[in-house]
Amino acid sequence: MKVLVVGGAGYIGSHTTYELIRAGHEVVVLDNLSTGRQHNVHPQTSFYWGDIRHKSDITRVLEAEHSTGKPIDVAMHFAAKLIVPQSVSQPLAYYENNVEGLRTMLEALVECNVRNVVFSSTAAVYGEPDAPECSEDGPTKPINPYGETKLACEKMIQWVAAAHGLNYCILRYFNVAGADESLEIGLDKDYLTWLIPLIMQAALGIRDKLFIYGNDYNTPDGTCIRDYIHVTDLAQAHVLGAEYILKNQQSLLCNLGSGSGYSVKEVLDAALELFPVPFEYAARRPGDPDILIANIDRARKLLGWEPTRNLRTILKSDYDFRRKLAESRRG
Ligand SMILES: NC(=O)c1ccc[n+]([C@@H]2O[C@H](COP(=O)([O-])OP(=O)(O)OC[C@H]3O[C@@H](n4cnc5c(N)ncnc54)[C@H](O)[C@@H]3O)[C@@H](O)[C@H]2O)c1
Repeated sequence: MKVLVVGGAGYIGSHTTYELIRAGHEVVVLDNLSTGRQHNVHPQTSFYWGDIRHKSDITRVLEAEHSTGKPIDVAMHFAAKLIVPQSVSQPLAYYENNVEGLRTMLEALVECNVRNVVFSSTAAVYGEPDAPECSEDGPTKPINPYGETKLACEKMIQWVAAAHGLNYCILRYFNVAGADESLEIGLDKDYLTWLIPLIMQAALGIRDKLFIYGNDYNTPDGTCIRDYIHVTDLAQAHVLGAEYILKNQQSLLCNLGSGSGYSVKEVLDAALELFPVPFEYAARRPGDPDILIANIDRARKLLGWEPTRNLRTILKSDYDFRRKLAESRRG
């Protein structure tokens, strides 16, 4: 199949591109390089600079690829803003990029007769669930503009699919980390506020120390439990998801996580076995549930997918990639 990866210069889009190419598919990347990097774009892809908020940037790519005699079969959308605190201070920018960007992209896809869409969603659509395990049919109650924009996008895709005969694959990610085994691509952003990027920043001296917010939660060691998934496992699920909707002409929405949880303390201990991390306990933050784990039965059943990389592989690949990057920057 021929896949348009929108946001393919970013973290998850680039890893998905690598997995698509390894699976023998053809990839075209469209990206405005706002947070992505040109060097993340796989050399075997055709790259187009463009912004999905401008319809002509998308139709230009779709028409150019159509004229080769091999049109785009599936479009994957990764092109979002995703920093939760920034979404709280700049909600309009998030609605514009995430919701208006997707609306424009869907309009172009419908006009150019591209009928299969894979969309990156997030566990943030669940908000603060009452139950520790999140299933796709559970309530969606986002607690920040980022989660709201993603939920609005999910609904938009579903309505457009019903009206225009699209097949969609909506994937709700839990905590994604790690780097490709080649160490050519990985996560190199220092403004991220999730646990594993924060551990890496503390380990590499980019920040003084890691703060562990609260050790009095209702969990065995008192720290919050979350679900962590390796980016390559996640990327492989996208390949299966695209193949599934194309082959079956059916839509699906599913969670992507490991299906099991680790406490903050367990993640830190696993990291400490690999490298030193300065850390300190601090007070709880408001709004952190005790436990959040993905139910991944649906992805297992429909896609035949199973995450295979463990926490140690996630941490080690992430660290090795960052070390390599820091060394190359030092020259
Ligand atoms: N990283 C995570 O842990 C995580 C978790 C849950 C969901 N997600 C979702 O996964 C997707 C990808 O996240 P990521 O971590 O790879 O982010 P990223 O910032 O690394 O990648 C986003 C890419 O999209 C491009 N882009 C953004 N707006 C664009 C626009 N208007 N036009 C064209 N290109 C544009 C950026 O330049 C970048 O290359 C997002 O939709 C995000 O909501 C990510």
